[in-house]
Amino acid sequence: MFPQIIGHRGFPYKAPENTMSSYISAVDAGADGLEIDIHMTKDGELVLIHDETLDRTTNGSGSVGLCTFKEIRRLNADRRFGGQAKVPALRDFLERFALSGLTLIMELKTNKAHYPGIEEKLLGLLNEYGPPAHVIIASFNRNSLITVKRLDSRMKTGVLFKYRPVSLSRAKSTNVDALFPHFRNMRFVTAKKFAKSGFSLYPFTVNHLNTMRKMVFYRVSGIITDRCDLLSALKAEHPASGDDSGR
Ligand code: G3P
Ligand code: CA
Repeated sequence: MFPQIIGHRGFPYKAPENTMSSYISAVDAGADGLEIDIHMTKDGELVLIHDETLDRTTNGSGSVGLCTFKEIRRLNADRRFGGQAKVPALRDFLERFALSGLTLIMELKTNKAHYPGIEEKLLGLLNEYGPPAHVIIASFNRNSLITVKRLDSRMKTGVLFKYRPVSLSRAKSTNVDALFPHFRNMRFVTAKKFAKSGFSLYPFTVNHLNTMRKMVFYRVSGIITDRCDLLSALKAEHPASGDDSGR
C-alpha cells in the first residue's frame, strides 16, 4: 500500500509552522494527514505551537505554559516571514479538520514542559468534536501515552524516537499502536524489523524525494514531511497510489 503523506508543522517549507494556513496548504497539496504540536496555556487552553517558548516562532517571549490564552492570541505566529497569523487553539483545528477524514497525528509536547492534566483535556476535546476517527496521539514522553491509554484504551498512540534508536520493547511496554522513528533510524534491516513488529510506522521528517522513495520501498504506513509539494512527483512514480493511499 502506498504510504499516507502527513503534512508536518512546517508546510509550506520555510513558511510559518503550526498555523491554520500551513495546515490548509498541506491539505491543498494533497496531504492525507496532518501532524500538530500541542501545548497548554496557564489557563488550560490547548494551543498549537512547536516550542515550549514563544520566542522563536512568535513576536512574544517566555514559556507558553506561563501565559494565558488571551495573551497568546495577541501574538503574531508569522513574525519570521513577515505575515500575520494567530497561534491556533486546538479547538480551531478541530472545527476545521475533526470530520475531514484526514489522519491527525497530535503530538503532546510533554517531554520538556510539564502540563498537568493535558492528556485528559485532549481526550475531552476529541470527544466533544466527534471523536475524530483517525487520530494518533504521539509523544516522546511515554508517561503521557500511558496516561492516554489508561483514560481511553481505544485511543491510538505512538511513541517518537529522535536521538535514541527505536526500542520495540519500550514501544510494547508503553502499549502503543505506532512508531514514529526519525528517518535516519530507517535502514533496510531496521525497517524490515519494524514492519514485522505489527506497529504502524510513520518516519519523520522526510523532506527529500530520494528518502521518500526509500520509505515507500520500506512500505511504511505514512511519511511525515514538510514537502507535500513533492507529493505529485512521488505519486507519479506509483500510478496506483491515487486510490491506494489508505484514506
Ligand atoms: O511527528 C514527528 C515530529 O514532528 C517530531 O519532531 O520536533 O518536529 O515536533 P518535531
Ligand atoms: Ca511534532
